[in-house]
Amino acid sequence: MNKRELDTPALLLDADLFERNLLLMGDFVSSYGKKLRPHAKTHKCPQIAKKQLEKGNCAGICAAKLSEAEALAASGINDILITSPVTAPMKIARLGKLNKSISSLKVVADSPEQIRLLARQGTAENPLHVLVDVDPEMGRTGVPFGEAFSLGRFIASFPSLILDGVQCYAGHLQHIVSFAQRAGECTRLMKKGAEVFHELKKEFPSCRIYTGGGTGTSPADVLIEELTDIQAGSYCLMDSEYLAVEHGGPAFFPALTLLSGVISRHRKGEATIDAGTKEIYVTPGAPPKVIRRGKICEEYRYSWDFGDEHGHLFFPENVVLRSGDTLEMIVSHCDPTVNLFDRLYVVKGEEVLDCWEITLRGCCR
Ligand SMILES: Cc1ncc(COP(=O)(O)O)c(C=O)c1O
Repeated sequence: MNKRELDTPALLLDADLFERNLLLMGDFVSSYGKKLRPHAKTHKCPQIAKKQLEKGNCAGICAAKLSEAEALAASGINDILITSPVTAPMKIARLGKLNKSISSLKVVADSPEQIRLLARQGTAENPLHVLVDVDPEMGRTGVPFGEAFSLGRFIASFPSLILDGVQCYAGHLQHIVSFAQRAGECTRLMKKGAEVFHELKKEFPSCRIYTGGGTGTSPADVLIEELTDIQAGSYCLMDSEYLAVEHGGPAFFPALTLLSGVISRHRKGEATIDAGTKEIYVTPGAPPKVIRRGKICEEYRYSWDFGDEHGHLFFPENVVLRSGDTLEMIVSHCDPTVNLFDRLYVVKGEEVLDCWEITLRGCCR
């Protein structure tokens, strides 16, 4: 099947660019002696997670939520780190069940209340593996650096829990455009997390993982000696938000695009396409980019001002674009855009090779 025959709008994954991204990041982190722990929140697709694991050099897969971890486990993935605290008693009971069903489940914790509940779910024979979530001065989740050691010690005091390590994820730095600024802040904060890790490791031999980092900070993350693995997610798909950032490391390829169709065309240099806010997540300052034969066409401009189902496209008047034509765009922010679709089509050139379900779509609990 030719990709132009697909019903639009449709998410396309370029098989070659995707593979190149996996190799680029895998080789990059391993050249610094690190592992990858890719984040499945980006693609929500077990097939992609399995490809990441197959390419090797992975310490496991990350999930943002318990329901994502459950879906990954149901697809046969056995080594999962849940990167947000799971706190509700009913969810912690589900976590206990999941822990019995896969060989390696890990979860982060940032409060004594949560840790006490986790301790009731683990057993001495089947303990729960927990990492201290440390806040890199972002204020989203995690304990402040100064409180992390005593929280780690608290985890280690329960026979039903194993203190596996420390997580420090600086999400607020990932899209800082200047590489020098991003790398400087990343080094400062990740070194603080490294000190916590170092102290805990001295006292508790089970504390062996220092995990964090993302696509944007990865070139600085790899230089942190204590960091064992990098949780990058977007690198495998990419989006216009990340392409606008000065990377400072490998240049990843836009493997994910949205195929969209022109549905109305009456004004000169303007068209209405079938992808609005329900198909492309709104990211102010990083609109989707039209791409043709691998080249970004800066002369095209997309706007969300036509609302839910319709996208507003501006282009030079000499461009021939008719009602019914299709075009491809790099999406604004890959994670929430993927979450709007049930499946993606794997393509090579013009040919559709496969269709992968976005099984974790809507797994937000
Ligand atoms: C905890 C955590 N780790 C890793 C990532 C992956 O980051 P990126 O997509 O920038 O590589 C995210 C993304 O939001 C995250 O929340």
